Amino acid sequence: MQTIPRSSSSLLRARCVRTFFSSAARSQAVPAEKPPHPKEFKIYRWNPDEPATAPKLQSYTIDLNQCGPMVLDALIKIKNEVDPTLTFRRSCREGICGSCAMNINGQNTLACLCRIDRAPKDTKIYPLPHMYIVKDLVPDLTYFYKQYKSIEPFLQNDNPPEKGEYIQSQEDRKKLDGMYECILCACCSTSCPSYWWNQDEYLGPATLMQAYRWIADSRDTYSAHRKEQLQNSMSVYRCHTIFNCSRTCPKGLNPAQAIAKIKMELAAD
Ligand code: SF4
Ligand code: SF4
Ligand code: FES
Repeated sequence: MQTIPRSSSSLLRARCVRTFFSSAARSQAVPAEKPPHPKEFKIYRWNPDEPATAPKLQSYTIDLNQCGPMVLDALIKIKNEVDPTLTFRRSCREGICGSCAMNINGQNTLACLCRIDRAPKDTKIYPLPHMYIVKDLVPDLTYFYKQYKSIEPFLQNDNPPEKGEYIQSQEDRKKLDGMYECILCACCSTSCPSYWWNQDEYLGPATLMQAYRWIADSRDTYSAHRKEQLQNSMSVYRCHTIFNCSRTCPKGLNPAQAIAKIKMELAAD
């Protein structure tokens, strides 16, 4: 019979002991499951198929330890796991498409950029204020887009370059910073009291900032025409410089400043 030399057998014993302890340590290292962290969301509900039923706030409680960190994550979890009838818009989930704009705890913002408040207090979610509602958290933006279309949001120049692209100096290009980044989420316009009350004639901060984005573009030769369109008592001058718009913009833009620049240019004409 083959015998294991003394030194080899003690080596083997040491290995077995090490394996036992390291596997025990490994099993201890498995993170314990976090205890549930319940959070209540009260969400505005209205169904166009039941027009006689008044809108209401519906309550949903989910475990934050089983959910992503943003309000949009919570909405998706509720829709997927609790109530598939809950309706809201979303697409990019990273603050680019503008479709998840809604009012969260009193502030217009993007649900995908808004962290869930982990405090025990409930979170209230409404659609963007003072808009017609399609269903639940989906506002009707038809008129908002019509207003945007009315400012002709595209480059106009009757003398295009014979070949190649329109050339712009770096300085002129810089003048568009802080405006071209707008994603047309409508958070600013729907936070503006003047827009709430005069939506049919006042263009509102989002559309006005885009109007100025084209007035300020050195490649565009239609600025006189663009300003003429705005030269009336309603389109621009309903802005009373309350600054709600700039305070609420989830992209950190300053539409109130763009409106002030339009007013200055209109006054100088
Ligand atoms: S200015 Fe800001 S809040 Fe207004 S539409 Fe653009 S991105 Fe949204
Ligand atoms: S600054 Fe003008 S556009 Fe902005 S919220 Fe106030 S009134 Fe509305
Ligand atoms: S999902 Fe696109 S901005 Fe929120």
